[in-house]
Amino acid sequence: MTASERDMRGGAAPAWAGESRIPRDPRLDGSVGLLREGYRFISDLCDSAGSDIASTRIRLRDVICLRGGSAVGLFYGAEGLTRVGAIPGSVLHLLQDRGSVQQLEGPEHRHRKALFLSIAMDRARVATLIEMFRDEWRAALPDWERQERIVLQQEAARVLTRAACRWTGVENQPEDRLADEIFDMIDKAGSFGPRNWLAQLRRVGTERRLSRLVEKVRAGEVVPDAATALHAVAFHRDAAGGMLPPEIAAVELLNILRPTVAVGRYITFLALALHREATWRELFRSGNLELAGDFAEEVRRISPFFPFTAAVTTRPLRWEGHDLPADQWLMLDLYGTTHDARNFPDPHRFRAERMLSWAGQDDCFVPQGGGDVATTHRCPGEMITVELMKEAIRLLCRDMDYEVPEQDLGVRLNRIPAQPRSGMILGRIRSRTGTEPSAAG
Ligand code: HEM
Repeated sequence: MTASERDMRGGAAPAWAGESRIPRDPRLDGSVGLLREGYRFISDLCDSAGSDIASTRIRLRDVICLRGGSAVGLFYGAEGLTRVGAIPGSVLHLLQDRGSVQQLEGPEHRHRKALFLSIAMDRARVATLIEMFRDEWRAALPDWERQERIVLQQEAARVLTRAACRWTGVENQPEDRLADEIFDMIDKAGSFGPRNWLAQLRRVGTERRLSRLVEKVRAGEVVPDAATALHAVAFHRDAAGGMLPPEIAAVELLNILRPTVAVGRYITFLALALHREATWRELFRSGNLELAGDFAEEVRRISPFFPFTAAVTTRPLRWEGHDLPADQWLMLDLYGTTHDARNFPDPHRFRAERMLSWAGQDDCFVPQGGGDVATTHRCPGEMITVELMKEAIRLLCRDMDYEVPEQDLGVRLNRIPAQPRSGMILGRIRSRTGTEPSAAG
């Protein structure tokens, strides 16, 4: 809600304190607002302040919230920031975890990041992943045909887990269990209390299994293909020449497996967009897939996934005339930046004609962070994400027919991560290519 909307409703208009150059939220604490507004929290705060910077408190800790391209430049480029201590433990343990690349800075970070780039940004390796994803999807089709309906969000996570395990060389794992564990890491990262604790507990088990696998690889008991991530991570040497402790190697393996499975959430939003955009759906069904990349990129822009990122200053910084003291907690609005009408006219309308691309280095199109991928914390998985989504468009439009039965497709913006409420149910699935005969013959 903007300041003028608040005024119009006769509610308490925020009395922005004038003494600081950074507008301050008059509420004692913004935590309730964060729970209520979810993805819109920083944008609402900034709109009320009439600024792209505003300070508030979350769980009684002072935080400065920022949005827009210039703030992206600060988060992904400036020296004097760290991700350590910036993310609550409940989120950190389920996503990046301690000792991971995201918790490093400077030369150590660049060295570890190069490992991720060699795996996730190598076109040939990514093409292999896409092939495996296609195979696993097709292998699941006969089973989907037998069921009256499937929940795409769950099925996509399973298919992606199987493909990601084969691709990374993490074989002989209880894959359905792993799929559920990984799904929970993503799904429960934004919740507090027992649901989150349970997911953390399950993650400890996953990390232990992967850590033992790394030890077996080093002992020669398991010999992964040299082109796999398991091989690369197990034998990676840090800048000082030492191997990663097995538990850190396990965290980094999960840092490839988990977000690859997370692409399933974008695939769910993709199916929703195909359902709503009949003209595009028919174009793709006719076999014209030239613009599938534009469609996938607009799904990444418009769909709520990673709401914010956070950092802490390690020394005083100056940004756009504002002084940011040392040890200051900062939050950057990724969702708000990709939904800002100044950057994307009519931002809540799906328009694949925007022709966005992760390769464009646009500092406002930041669903997976911004800046130079090799030297900043920008996500190394954008190529994988978009290629998987393009393949999913092909599979959904060319390989199968399905119906979208009546269901609740509403998306609550105060649930992080968000999803269509139903998880996107598909019914009466029929293979179009006939790659696998259905049970019904
Ligand atoms: C579902 C799609 C994805 C989303 C929404 C996403 C989102 C993000 C975001 C916002 C960041 C930046 C965090 C920060 O600023 O500190 C990030 C970092 C990262 N992502 Fe992704 N990501 C996705 C897919 C992937 C994939 C497929 C991979 C790997 C195969 C991956 C691996 C990583 C890693 C390792 C980092 C840490 C990079 C660093 O600190 O230098 N992500 N991701």
